[in-house]
Amino acid sequence: EKRIVPYDIIGEETLNKLVDAFYYRVARHPDLIPIFPEDLSEVARKQKQFLTQFLGGPTLYSNEHGHPMMRARHLPHEITPKRAKAWLSCMSAAMDEVKLEGPIREQFFSRLVLTAQHMVNTPDTTK
Ligand code: HEM
Repeated sequence: EKRIVPYDIIGEETLNKLVDAFYYRVARHPDLIPIFPEDLSEVARKQKQFLTQFLGGPTLYSNEHGHPMMRARHLPHEITPKRAKAWLSCMSAAMDEVKLEGPIREQFFSRLVLTAQHMVNTPDTTK
């Protein structure tokens, strides 16, 4: 029995389009602008590598950067629940744009919800 590899279903081309559509939105989201660099090309390149292996494809991210340790890598940035919500809304809109639909999208997105929640390291404030 061969396991289903989401990366094989989604494919490199759609994944790359997804990441580009995602960072286009991140760059324009008022809650996210303050913590991201102006030039998003390097983080987009790393995200393509990361999501490739997250979806069961080749381990591009680890080959170049070592163990993902995503929570640790996000600690220098203030990730609030509000920002996690903003991140996920950009991703959902990007999935709409590239027409990623059906169970493959639902499964992928659910895993991203869990990962995003895990990245939260700062409470929302009322100030
Ligand atoms: C890097 C924000 C969730 C994957 C970053 C950076 C920021 C950030 C500010 C650093 C950009 C830079 O200066 O280079 C956020 C926020 C999130 C979130 C606000 C909301 C919860 C996620 C999730 C994933 C992810 C869910 C994976 C599924 C990455 C990757 C990098 C990164 C792969 C590059 C790490 C590296 O430098 O090697 N993120 N992130 N992030 N993020 Fe997130």
